[in-house]
Amino acid sequence: MALRCAVFASGGGSNFQALIDRKNAGDLDAEFVLFVGNNSSAAAFDKARTASIPTLHIAPSHFESESLYAKKLLESLEEYNVELIVLAGYMRKLPSEVVLRYHHRIVNIHPGLLPAFGGKGMYGSHVHDAVIEYGAKVSGITIHFVDEEYDHGPIIAQITVPVMDSDDSHALAERVLTVEHGNYWKAIQAIACGRIRIEGRRVFGNV
Ligand code: GAR
Repeated sequence: MALRCAVFASGGGSNFQALIDRKNAGDLDAEFVLFVGNNSSAAAFDKARTASIPTLHIAPSHFESESLYAKKLLESLEEYNVELIVLAGYMRKLPSEVVLRYHHRIVNIHPGLLPAFGGKGMYGSHVHDAVIEYGAKVSGITIHFVDEEYDHGPIIAQITVPVMDSDDSHALAERVLTVEHGNYWKAIQAIACGRIRIEGRRVFGNV
């Protein structure tokens, strides 16, 4: 049975598209049953519609309180029998009610090597700017489970890329994105196949 996934994204959705392509190629035993976005003009919405995936536009500002926002999110996830939440360039912190209900069932991809260059405000190009400014010689991606702290949950996989002397944040982002596209689906497939085991902070199993 395919793993029922909801994908959350805020922007262009190139990671989302890469996952759809892998599923269509028959490499990924997942079904994308719901797309959730906080920004209605995000290109990721078009990608969901093109792939005939139901969409939900929802943001905390639509609600009087965080708990009403969490309630609506949880109702939607339950309505679609979501088994795994896949954050693919989602720039909002999920409400703790959702994180607790989906304990070890939410994954995120971060465009840097955690625990460096992570935390509040460290997303997208901010990460690449910080890596270059710091003078790091390697960067990469981190695929991890989500807990209540930013960029903190147990790490499933990390892959490095070099930082070149000539890099600006755009060039580094491109190199990192290519590695994201080539690897996020593998982590989701490992979860779908039951190959992943978690003990405390440590995640075992081949991705
Ligand atoms: C990706 O690089 C992803 O790792 C990053 O945003 C980009 C989204 O690109 N995510 C974060 O920074 C989350 N903290 P995409 O919309 O083209 O997939």
